[in-house]
Amino acid sequence: MRSKISSLIMIPSSFSIIIFMSYVFFQSYNQLLYITHPITILFFFIIVILLIILEFINNLIFKKKIESIPEKTRKNILDKNDGNYFYSIYRFIFHDPKKYNDKIKKIDHGFDGILELDNDIPIWWLHLFYITIAISIIYFFSFIFLDYSNPYREYKTAYKEQLKKIEIFEKKKPQASIENSYFKKELIEDGKILFKENCSTCHQSDGSGNIGPNLTDNYWINTVEKDLYKNIFSIIWNGSEKNPTMRAFGKSGEIKGNDIEKISSYVYFINQNLKKPLKQKKPQGKEILEWKHSK
Ligand code: HEC
Repeated sequence: MRSKISSLIMIPSSFSIIIFMSYVFFQSYNQLLYITHPITILFFFIIVILLIILEFINNLIFKKKIESIPEKTRKNILDKNDGNYFYSIYRFIFHDPKKYNDKIKKIDHGFDGILELDNDIPIWWLHLFYITIAISIIYFFSFIFLDYSNPYREYKTAYKEQLKKIEIFEKKKPQASIENSYFKKELIEDGKILFKENCSTCHQSDGSGNIGPNLTDNYWINTVEKDLYKNIFSIIWNGSEKNPTMRAFGKSGEIKGNDIEKISSYVYFINQNLKKPLKQKKPQGKEILEWKHSK
């Protein structure tokens, strides 16, 4: 007897299932490389081609053998094997109704005279059911033992990817420099956060000064620019020439130009609007009231 499903179909589909399963199980371990490697794929194709040849030979042998069988039985066997494989699979799955018509069982309830048709469950339905069982087992164990289906991990990976994309985007964006930067109201809020992170240890989170001078008063130690905003930007970029404690955040690459623009906007804003009384220190530097303001 010949097998119902051609090995030509069986083997490629089992290969695909193996590839799919290994994808599910190993994708987190970078071991997919072996399966998607060109040599594996080449090997796969060679097997399929060999199978085609085998199938062809098998067919020839079958035809030769059948010649010696009596006419009637031969017709029967040929009927069973007719059509191509896809058609016979279709028949196998969907229960060719003509073929099974005479097999329908009827259950007589007796008391009410109602006849119940007791058809077999369609095979496609049964198969679907088995598939769901298989999938649930795979999913159950992979959920417990592997982290591929862990939503937290998925979230983390997606989050990291997003951050990377943002970083690349920020890098590609032209960075602000002393020449092209100016005070931008909409950057104050972002600048406030960055100021807290980078500057508040020395200048206090409200800019009123600690190790570094008060940034909200009119006294300035460093006046490298005539324009107030640019003076602030320049000091953050180049640091203080007089005191290395105020380091060159921009030049050293510690803070990028666009972020310095945000911080500068914030410092400019608090200097103009939120004068804080001096707590620990006397005013440092000279009082300067005639700043240029570029807006
Ligand atoms: C390690 C401490 C420290 C940190 C951190 C620091 N500064 Fe300073 N900053 C100073 C000191 C000290 C001075 C005074 C420099 C001088 O005497 O020339 C100063 C000066 C300044 C000045 C000029 C003030 C003036 O009167 O000339 C500005 C503006 C300034 N800092 C902004 C910032 C900003 C914005 C940050 C965050 C990116 C920052 N600083 C981080 C210590 C610090």
